[in-house]
Order: sequence, then structure tokens, then C-alpha cells
Amino acid sequence: VRTLPDRDLAKSVAVVEETYLWLNELQFARNDLIVAVGGGALTDVAGFIAATYLRGVPVVYMPTTLLGAIDASIGGKTAINIGGKNLAGVFRHPNRVLIDLEVLAGLPVELLREGAAEAIKAGLIADPVLFELFESHGLDAPLEEVVRRAVTVKADVVREDFREQGRRGILNYGHTIGHAIEMEAGMSHGHAVAIGMVAAGAVSARVAGFGHERRQNDAIAGLGLPTASPTVDAARIRSLVALDKKRDRGGLRMTVISDIGTASVVSVDDATVDAALQVVGIG
Ligand SMILES: NC(=O)c1ccc[n+]([C@@H]2O[C@H](COP(=O)([O-])OP(=O)(O)OC[C@H]3O[C@@H](n4cnc5c(N)ncnc54)[C@H](O)[C@@H]3O)[C@@H](O)[C@H]2O)c1
Ligand SMILES: [Zn+2]
Repeated sequence: VRTLPDRDLAKSVAVVEETYLWLNELQFARNDLIVAVGGGALTDVAGFIAATYLRGVPVVYMPTTLLGAIDASIGGKTAINIGGKNLAGVFRHPNRVLIDLEVLAGLPVELLREGAAEAIKAGLIADPVLFELFESHGLDAPLEEVVRRAVTVKADVVREDFREQGRRGILNYGHTIGHAIEMEAGMSHGHAVAIGMVAAGAVSARVAGFGHERRQNDAIAGLGLPTASPTVDAARIRSLVALDKKRDRGGLRMTVISDIGTASVVSVDDATVDAALQVVGIG
């Protein structure tokens, strides 16, 4: 057993190298198995190590956070950080994912909330029943059904588009503006994505005829997640959002929903982004 540094400190080239050397010492062979127990950061780096050591060894993920269970361990993206987040990695599924609901049931509420932000996103883009579970029960939504439904949403989307050429982009609902707020305000990912979803809901109303902004935002607030941004520099948020645009070449692409459970990726103009930023108190 080897313990890795906590959170994203685990996702470094140094940790990967130390772990490779440890596997050498163990004379780890291709028919041995890596079992990765921890949150999304741990499974991301363990997946990277398993994908590359001896050109690939088997790995089982045992996610211990809700976000890990429904998001990071599903879909086969492995990653480490090199000067920027998730800039090196490979696409490779684990051999198996084992989710222990009792572990998730014992999570501190803040970690539960972080995962709930991604789970309600799954409902918003592809599963109205999942959304309604959170709408009715908040953080007390039945965990087993939440996990089952959220995993299904992600697995279905990824099955259609493993290498993120198109459809997989719908998983980024709330993430374009959310990421900018996360970086600029130094907030947790889940909290920033919650605000990002409020902004994306406003974009959706404007360009996709979405008529349930209020319901969406009330359900997000019902999870104890924020629906407005802390004070941030609007110009910096705009330029961070524009960075996303550069990567896409030619126009900002954003995920919008036309109804709860129906998502698509569309091009969005600057005026629409500005209007959405104002809805969350930016600019
Ligand atoms: N590969 C993907 O597709 C994908 C998707 C989403 C996120 N991610 C990655 O996942 C990471 C975030 O995952 P996370 O939210 O699980 O955070 P994390 O792995 O950083 O863990 C958060 C904290 O929770 C602690 N923790 C883990 N299990 C616990 C438990 N059962 N009880 C109490 N504390 C526990 C950890 O030690 C850590 O301090 C990021 O690095 C992100 O890039 C990857
Ligand atoms: Zn996310």
C-alpha cells in the first residue's frame, strides 16, 4: 500500500515517477492489479500510472467521494497536472469501478455537496427524474438512485463519444463560466459549477428557449450551493472565458439546455455571455 499526497498534489509528474519506481521495486507485473482507493484526484493519477506502466496494467477504482463515484471514475479520462490542470493524460477506462454507498453516505456534507453539483448537472442535461430527486429532497435525495442515475448519464454520453469530439461536450454544462469563476475566485469546483449552471441557464433561456430557470436555480440553492458569484473582476472573467474560445477556434461553444434533461452544444456570442454573467452578479 502506498499513500499519495492529498487532493491535486497527487496529480504530479513527481508522484507518478515515485510510484513507477515503487512498482519496479515490487516487481509489479502485467497480470498484477492496481487498486485505487480515494477521491477523483487519486483515481485520475492512478489511472494515468496504470495506463502507462509497462504500457498498461489493470486497475480497479474504488471512489470514496460522490464526485469521484459519479464523475471522475466514469468515462476513462486519466490526468495529471503539468503547469495547468489535467494537461497530460490518456483516455483509458479502468477494468472495474466499485462504489461503496456506505462510504458515500458517511461523507462530510461539504464533499457531498461538491458531488451533488455534478449529479444535478447530470439531471439537467439528460435525466429529468434525477433533477427532480434533488428538487424534492435536496441533499437528502436517495443516494443509491442518485448514483445509479448519474453514472448512467455519464456512461451513456461517453459511450457515444469517448474522445470528446462532440456529444461529450454536454457534460460541460455550467463549466465554461464555472471554470473562470473557480480560477478567479479560488472557489471549490462544485460551488463554481453551481454558479456556472445559473449563468448557463440564462444563456439557455436566451438561445434555446429554456423555460425553467427558476426551478433549476431553486434546486441548486436547495443543495446549499451558491447561485451568485462572489465579487470578482468582470474583465478577468471575460478573458478567462475567451481563453476557452481560443481553444475551440472560432466562436465560444457552450452547453445549453432547451428543457430539463435535453442538452446541446451551441455557439454563443459575447452579448449573450455578458448578459449571463450579469445574472450571476458579474459586470
Ligand atoms: N477523470 C475525470 O473525468 C474527472 C472528472 C471530474 C473530476 N476529476 C478530477 O477529480 C478531482 C476532484 O475529485 P474529488 O472531488 O473527489 O476531490 P479529491 O480527490 O481532491 O478529494 C477531496 C478531499 O476529500 C478527501 N476524501 C476522499 N474520500 C473521502 C471520504 N470518504 N471521507 C472524507 N474525506 C474524503 C480527500 O482526501 C481530499 O482531501 C480533481 O482532480 C478533478 O480534476 C476528474
Ligand atoms: Zn466538473
